[in-house]
Amino acid sequence: MSLNDETYAALIPQALALLEGEPSLVANLANVSALLKQATDWHWVGFYLVDFDRDELALGPFQGPVACTRLRKGKGVCAAAWETSLPQIVANVHEFPGHVACSAATNAELVIPIQAAGRVVAVLDIDALDFDAFSHADVDALRPLTSEIEKSWHQWEA
Ligand code: SME
Repeated sequence: MSLNDETYAALIPQALALLEGEPSLVANLANVSALLKQATDWHWVGFYLVDFDRDELALGPFQGPVACTRLRKGKGVCAAAWETSLPQIVANVHEFPGHVACSAATNAELVIPIQAAGRVVAVLDIDALDFDAFSHADVDALRPLTSEIEKSWHQWEA
């Protein structure tokens, strides 16, 4: 079950308004995480940023329980989004080979890659307690937000 259209209709303009005119990458990713967390029943919402020097994902701004600090290539849902540049919609994380269980309570997961200048620079990771919590409708509904992040990424100050 995706979030309903009304929830997204209220949420996305608020998220875009938060980003308007703010040049801090950390501030923007932090506020997006907070907004998505507080407006939903999602268990964990946040970003992993590509660490190009170490070729890993490093934990970025998030809301929810303490999470794994670093994720390596070839293992888990976030790495799959990073490596394929494709959203990962996982109905049951326990059936996903290599899933990294930062929180034992998570049952479903959605990871959307964020691309700038032709390469993945981060992923938006959303965990839910309910199985089958996400669908392509969520990816589509979040696209105005993820597109804005992608467009602005290199203008924001890290
Ligand atoms: N489950 C993720 C790890 C990140 S946590 O969910 C916050 C994965 O398999 O990559």
